[in-house]
Amino acid sequence: MGKDRNMNVLTNFGLYVVVLMILIQYGQSTAPTGCTFDSSDSVGIYTCDYTAVTLPLAYSGFSPAPQRLVINKIEGTLGSGSTFSGFSSFSSASLDKNYIASLDLQCSTSAVVSLTIAAGTFTDMNWVQKLTITNCRIANLPADVFADFGQLDTLIITGGKIDAMDAGAFGNIDIGKLDLIPQAAGLLEFSNLEMPATTLTTGIFTSLVNVSHIKLDNIGLTAVVTTDFSSNTGLHTLTISNNAITTIPSGFFTGLDGIGIVDFSGTSWDCSCTNLWFLTFADTNGIEIQGGANCGTPSTHASKFSSS
Ligand SMILES: *[C@@H]1O[C@H](CO)[C@@H](O)[C@H](O)[C@H]1NC(C)=O
Repeated sequence: MGKDRNMNVLTNFGLYVVVLMILIQYGQSTAPTGCTFDSSDSVGIYTCDYTAVTLPLAYSGFSPAPQRLVINKIEGTLGSGSTFSGFSSFSSASLDKNYIASLDLQCSTSAVVSLTIAAGTFTDMNWVQKLTITNCRIANLPADVFADFGQLDTLIITGGKIDAMDAGAFGNIDIGKLDLIPQAAGLLEFSNLEMPATTLTTGIFTSLVNVSHIKLDNIGLTAVVTTDFSSNTGLHTLTISNNAITTIPSGFFTGLDGIGIVDFSGTSWDCSCTNLWFLTFADTNGIEIQGGANCGTPSTHASKFSSS
């Protein structure tokens, strides 16, 4: 009898140890109401449903710290000073350097204007290294809207539409390759979206002297001008793909001495006489052209591949 009880005590003790080990291994996590935590790797990802959370999202409501944060189903305003709180306590020094620190804003696609942001929306969010905005219809990107991030490795706006954009939208933000993070990109990307116009807002990228890669894919551009990227002296890769441009103005690469790769995939060139000057220019200057060069016009050259 006594022996059996001892065995029971031992079995129960064993169970406690197993449960304890599971708790230690997976950790205890807390998330604000409306947010869930996926702990499938050592940093984990929080996903917060815009329609279920109460803003502001408080840093203190997350344990472990939200190094990767997704807000989805957005359909409304992320107000200045009223979206995030207490994030000044999130020290960049505490980030797990094996993972890029990211903020993902994903919109509900049904709304007419699905995302309204302002200068100050991202107060204290300078721990973020990568910002992605997906499938949002953005009424306006006002001046300095991203300034609170201070420095970003990557900024991607993909899908959806931007109705208006201030020439100073990228004011006081430094986009460039960050040291000490895996796969640093130094990337600014606009892709698969409707822009306010078919040409770039004059001066929109002027302040981005450290950006390493600008990617403009399928955003309805019909023309580019020499001044569009002339200040982006840190540029290594320029992607202008799947747009309706037909020519590149001469002098387009002046001052961009570090450029190594240009990608004009999906471009139907006007191959008349001098329009393909950049093929020779690229050859002379050791610039790799990706995506080939297909002639749309003149009709005698249509679909022919041009080469220098
Ligand atoms: C570009 O990078 C350098 C070196 O990190 C930094 O000192 C400078 O402030 C950056 N410039 C801008 C405009 O962000």
